Amino acid sequence: MDQIVNVNEFQELAKRALPKMYYDFYRGGAEDQHTLKENVAAFTRIMFRPRVLVDVSKIDMSTRILGYPISAPIMIAPTSNHKLAHPEGETATAKAAAACNTIMIVSCMSSCTLEEVASSCNAVRFFQIYVFERRDVTAQVVKRAERAGYKAIVLTVDVPKLGRREADIKNKMIPPKLSNFEGLSSTQVKPSDGSGVEAFASRALDASLNWKDIEWLRSITKLPILIKGILTREDALKAVEAGVDGIVVSNHGGRQLDYSPATITVLEEVVHVVKGRIPVLLDGGVRRGTDVFKALALGAKAVLIGRPVVYGLAAKGEDGVRKVIEMLKNEFELTMALSGCPTIGDITRNHVRTPDERLK
Ligand code: FNR
Repeated sequence: MDQIVNVNEFQELAKRALPKMYYDFYRGGAEDQHTLKENVAAFTRIMFRPRVLVDVSKIDMSTRILGYPISAPIMIAPTSNHKLAHPEGETATAKAAAACNTIMIVSCMSSCTLEEVASSCNAVRFFQIYVFERRDVTAQVVKRAERAGYKAIVLTVDVPKLGRREADIKNKMIPPKLSNFEGLSSTQVKPSDGSGVEAFASRALDASLNWKDIEWLRSITKLPILIKGILTREDALKAVEAGVDGIVVSNHGGRQLDYSPATITVLEEVVHVVKGRIPVLLDGGVRRGTDVFKALALGAKAVLIGRPVVYGLAAKGEDGVRKVIEMLKNEFELTMALSGCPTIGDITRNHVRTPDERLK
């Protein structure tokens, strides 16, 4: 592992380690995969305005999310089915998150149960949910997450229906194994019909979910609620009005609506209307410490990492995930030093230039 110098290199290792069906499932995006590519490409169009002759002999990357301290603004995005990547599944990812002093958002579609993940490490964890037509099933899992000590619920709102992921259709991707749910068996879905993931989603997810349902979620949990999947100022305002505790600007890693904008290009419009009332996080295409810095300069409190974490897990288990997070942290620390920002609070909008801006 010593020969790996950046997180992108884990993708090739994961490709070698995984059966094609699983690798394609992790890597893929929707339809033309335009948004998938743009998430990464859009970061490359943002340039720095570095400041010099600042004392950067000590760099402090630490920050707080919903009051919980983390070592750097780099968290783990919810991704499903970690046992397809590694036999230890989400417990390995959670241990790596704990070792890196960061927060893992555990997907409700995890292959280890939420309780197994909770008992594998005592770090701060958030729990991500989808809302099923069977509301009682969603309500039960939220209660279990509360009991198991998860500190927030992350409601993913960009999957009323599953995006068309053509690799999964071609490969007849197996339906997810639902360790967290009883009574929602996906085993009756015939994989030969196409993507088993899509078949499961169309049977189980509640496409009628709407803003009024935030009240319902509030009524069943005392935990803070974050909404994941916001891409416009209109919806950001609605989220604030609905009283949620945080927003994740996300297009689901380009897996849902293709030709949705790259997340980094819409971050500012969201931040602008939120006006600091609640934290705004971002995911999609973060592959470098410089990307983390750019997201913070444009107003994010932290970023979430999706695929690189899964690739690290597939390649090297817990150590691989730890290495991914550590490499991003090291690069981010260097970016802060070379930009003249010793603390997170020193990073400002003036430290970056977006493509639509004239020279400042
Ligand atoms: C995801 N994502 C996701 N999101 C979510 O809310 N619940 C989930 O169960 C999953 N599952 C999932 C599986 C896989 C294989 C991927 C790649 C993604 C979306 C994820 O949380 C995040 O939004 C993106 O992965 C971020 O983009 P990057 O970092 O992968 O570019």
